[in-house]
Amino acid sequence: MNKTIVSASILSADFADFGGAIAQIDASNAGWIHLDVMDGSFVPNLTFGPKLVGDLRHRTKGIFDVHLMVVKPGRFIGEFADAGSDAITFHYEAEPDAKKYLSQIRNLGLKAGISIAPATPCSVLADLMPYIDIALIMTVNPGYGGQSLIPECLEKAEKLAKMREEAGLDFRISVDGGINEKTAENAKKAGADVLVMGSAFFKSEDKAGLIRRLQG
Ligand code: DX5
Ligand code: ZN
Repeated sequence: MNKTIVSASILSADFADFGGAIAQIDASNAGWIHLDVMDGSFVPNLTFGPKLVGDLRHRTKGIFDVHLMVVKPGRFIGEFADAGSDAITFHYEAEPDAKKYLSQIRNLGLKAGISIAPATPCSVLADLMPYIDIALIMTVNPGYGGQSLIPECLEKAEKLAKMREEAGLDFRISVDGGINEKTAENAKKAGADVLVMGSAFFKSEDKAGLIRRLQG
């Protein structure tokens, strides 16, 4: 059984102070730092690119969990790896040749992740499971922080946890969107072992306490 990790998402941070956000995450003891890359095309919103990842790399030894919400993500794997990413996750819906890019990420020595949006069934992951270190189940429609979790998406996490067990694999199941202390309980019960948390983390007045309770 994997220990639960919180991946704190800087999407909900003050964009004028990412360095400060990283310091807050480090001080909270959250296991991973989640970096949402959006291109205004795969999703309607825009965020940042590899330069930010590289600049933040000098500020922390924390684990960079990069979530690419971009079309043709294969174009950017090298740049995000060079910038100091530890894990790169891209969307199944954005890349028909997922195996090729998952292998590329692993060959660069990083953790490889695949993500599915709420409308995509987890059966599409069956063939990809041996190639992944992370399956990121979106629990909201990707693009914005602060949305409410779609409960049906947790059923996919549960199904995937069964598929993982049957296959004898140990990749992590991450859930992303609308995770707070309350929904985290159901997510953990469903089999999630990485909890991506943006707005609930940055709103919390006791971040270390929140992380202690969730990562226990
Ligand atoms: C949304 C992003 C999430 C976002 C989650 O498309 O992938 O990582 O930061 O934010 P919250 O936790 O506020 O739903
Ligand atoms: Zn994300």
